[in-house]
Amino acid sequence: MDNEERDHVEPLKSERYFQEKDLWGFIHRSFTKSMGYSEASLRKPIIGIANTFSELNKCHSHFNELVDYVKRGVWQAGGTPMEFPTISIGEPYIKPTTMLLRNLMAMDTEEMLKGHPIDGVVLLGGCDKTVPAQLMAAASANIPAIVLTGGPMLNGRLGGRSLGACTDCYGFTLEHKAGNISDEELAVAEDAICRSDGHCMVMGTASTMASIAEALGMALPGCAAIPAPDSRRRHLAEETGKQIVELVRQGIRPRDIMTREALENAITVTMASGGSTNAIIHLIAIAQRLGMKLPLETFDEISARTPFILNLRPSGQYQMEEYFEAGGVPALMKELEELLHGDCLTVTGETIADNLRGARTLDRDVIRTVEEPLDTQGGIAVLRGNLAPDGALVKQTAVSAHLKSHIGRAVVFESPEDLTRRIDDPDLEVDETSVLVLKNAGPKGAPAMPEIGQIPIPRKLLQQGVRDMVRISDARISGTSYGALIVHAAPEAAVGGNLALVQSGDRIELDIASRRLILHVPDDELARRRAAWQPPKPHYDRGYGLLFHERVLQANLGCDFDFLLPAELRRELLGE
Ligand code: FES
Repeated sequence: MDNEERDHVEPLKSERYFQEKDLWGFIHRSFTKSMGYSEASLRKPIIGIANTFSELNKCHSHFNELVDYVKRGVWQAGGTPMEFPTISIGEPYIKPTTMLLRNLMAMDTEEMLKGHPIDGVVLLGGCDKTVPAQLMAAASANIPAIVLTGGPMLNGRLGGRSLGACTDCYGFTLEHKAGNISDEELAVAEDAICRSDGHCMVMGTASTMASIAEALGMALPGCAAIPAPDSRRRHLAEETGKQIVELVRQGIRPRDIMTREALENAITVTMASGGSTNAIIHLIAIAQRLGMKLPLETFDEISARTPFILNLRPSGQYQMEEYFEAGGVPALMKELEELLHGDCLTVTGETIADNLRGARTLDRDVIRTVEEPLDTQGGIAVLRGNLAPDGALVKQTAVSAHLKSHIGRAVVFESPEDLTRRIDDPDLEVDETSVLVLKNAGPKGAPAMPEIGQIPIPRKLLQQGVRDMVRISDARISGTSYGALIVHAAPEAAVGGNLALVQSGDRIELDIASRRLILHVPDDELARRRAAWQPPKPHYDRGYGLLFHERVLQANLGCDFDFLLPAELRRELLGE
């Protein structure tokens, strides 16, 4: 497609670079032609491909191949592809936590999009923090964009059993710690669980964010669930390359697609899927980049009216491979159609309702109906109470039934280091009714809110057969975690939230049905403890870590940096 053939009249950014006859036009053409691009190629829309391949990111190991298929599609549709790198965030590798780098990746991607002659972009993401970072960047840069995720791994296989990363990683290491499996058996499991390219294959954060990209309308239908090694993902990559040229031709931008209604669709799909609690933070951050507030109440309201219908681990039985065979996100959205805004525009250039025409469920055990759900409510509940005045989250579908309403005595760990030091101490005063409390693991505290909210069960209780307890923190959890895990307590302990004031022996009440999380300590005693409270020392005294510490927002505000919000929303939310 030559630039003259477009539907809209606004000049493309690439035209300003490559078609001016001035000094800079000369330089841009000359330097770019030296890479082998012809004059004719520079007269076509320039399509950026954000390739996040990295040998330090297992989930993106196949991206160089996928990029080739995207390029095919771009050339076929009359665009000129130009691949570029950004930061890549591989969940298991980056310490202290990948959340430290989500905002950095969002900034990196946004500035790459804004600073280059890119008319449209295909964003290749997959591992947990990459897709939210790219959606945040797309929201801020607002140039035509399509997300192409790398797809989930094939199911792990061992002894006839289907294994899932990383839900079974926890199970294997737990049983090893309890002395039930040997070192050799653990090594065999390590090799069997991850056996192909792709991201984690349960409904963890990566699968949740891939589903969200699709539900928002920012990825082509069917994108989320196609396994990474399946040839149909390459077909979809080619199609994505074609479609981004079409989006440029039509002038359709992310803010035309990511409306409030589209965000509500994404929340509905997350709740129906038993999606990751991390998605709440990411969706809030994306909404705020678009200039919209997305309070936790919206999630709870949508959760309350959305049945949980996707039978995927960690909340259910199957994994992404079976989800794909059952019809994937389009089939799930078809089941939910009455609960969705069907008129939302998508990257196909058509609406959600148009895209869902013809979608159907092929395996009723994987995708249930709204009439016969796995649970009448969505996967995540928002808890309130004096322990988390600004909210806390629980993935209610993954909580053991006997703990959904519970009162127990707190066993407090002051920090992640304190937890590591004492959790397996044989003298720790704890039993199965105790409530484990971890402080100083929030956005500023740990730092950067690591996924350590799945507080380990103390070894002595494990050996007695205990496999779930109520655990409360201001940390996050992996989307692959399971159990009675209350996370994202806000305000966090490190800024003086009431979590900071809990002491071992205090009584804590959890009641998921009534959304209550109460610390049974009188107000005057809390005031006394607050007067004696001292904030922990920041972990950084320079560099990006210090910037993160000083500017990160709390979990209920998406953990973005305050200065990345649109100015008007920043004033409204933060009073600046
Ligand atoms: Fe990348 Fe799990 S490690 S999605």
